[in-house]
Amino acid sequence: MTALLKVHGLRKAFGGVQAVDGVSFELAAGELLAMIGPNGAGKSTCFNMINGQLAPDAGSVALAGREIAGRRPREIWRLGVGRTFQVAATYASMTVVENVQMALLSYHGQLLRLWPRAASLHRAEALELLAAVGLRERADEPCSTLAYGDIKTVELAIALANRPALLLMDEPTAGMAPQERNALMRLTRELVKQRGIGVLFTEHSMDVVFAHADRVMVLARGVLIAQGEPDAIRDDAAVREVYLGSGRLVKAARRADGDAHGRSGAGLGSDAGSGVGSDVAAPASGTRSAP
Ligand SMILES: Nc1ncnc2c1ncn2[C@@H]1O[C@H](COP(=O)(O)OP(=O)(O)OP(=O)(O)O)[C@@H](O)[C@H]1O
Ligand SMILES: [Mg+2]
Repeated sequence: MTALLKVHGLRKAFGGVQAVDGVSFELAAGELLAMIGPNGAGKSTCFNMINGQLAPDAGSVALAGREIAGRRPREIWRLGVGRTFQVAATYASMTVVENVQMALLSYHGQLLRLWPRAASLHRAEALELLAAVGLRERADEPCSTLAYGDIKTVELAIALANRPALLLMDEPTAGMAPQERNALMRLTRELVKQRGIGVLFTEHSMDVVFAHADRVMVLARGVLIAQGEPDAIRDDAAVREVYLGSGRLVKAARRADGDAHGRSGAGLGSDAGSGVGSDVAAPASGTRSAP
């Protein structure tokens, strides 16, 4: 594969905590790569080093062959690295289409203080983006009237306005209901495949990860312990250990694997009804009950 993003030996410590400890991976254009791991594993720290919010202690981040590690966020954004936020960041008092127009003003290098005199600028392009995410009908409503899931969808349109080559999505579906999560990731997948955008995302719902990622990598205490296709990751013993904590639960899960229903009971299955549950917002250090 031709790498759009090449990360090598990335490291970051906060005081005594080695948050990211030598992370290396590659991401191709048009690929959806998930980075998963328990709370505090170092996922956001990795994202923040790639988008320039944090300077790495060591390591390299190459975007289409160009080194970007340590550059300023604005410069990295200009080079084509977009992001969505864990907490929705739209302007509630502006309409849906105005929010997207603002992003387009910024992309075209125009001053935001032109607003609101420039209220008609890029409107057609903004409406096209809204049509692409299925929100064309809501264009002239204030963002404040939208449901949370729709606001997250507006954010996707805002991120696309910058025509990113790489899109970083740190928990894009946080706070959303399961059905909305799947809908947003399905839409993301469709749009980025059409446009050849590489996506690095993190997500605590394993159902969503395994349904939409092309590849998955697993971070634990700053170290990548596995990467591969979703099915291989789901069956990886070390990954199960991280998520399930105690050997007792792993054994129980393996027994469940062999039962008559053939269900994965290890909590990493894509079946929401399986075993110890599919939402691994916290490492299940023995607190979840075996099936
Ligand atoms: N600005 C900071 N100052 C000090 N410590 C930090 C800072 N940011 C992160 N850490 C620490 O670095 C480690 C990794 O945190 P990070 O936020 O990257 O984890 P994460 O995988 O994104 O977790 P979550 O799933 O909860 O979002 C944690 O131990 C965290 O407490
Ligand atoms: Mg995080």
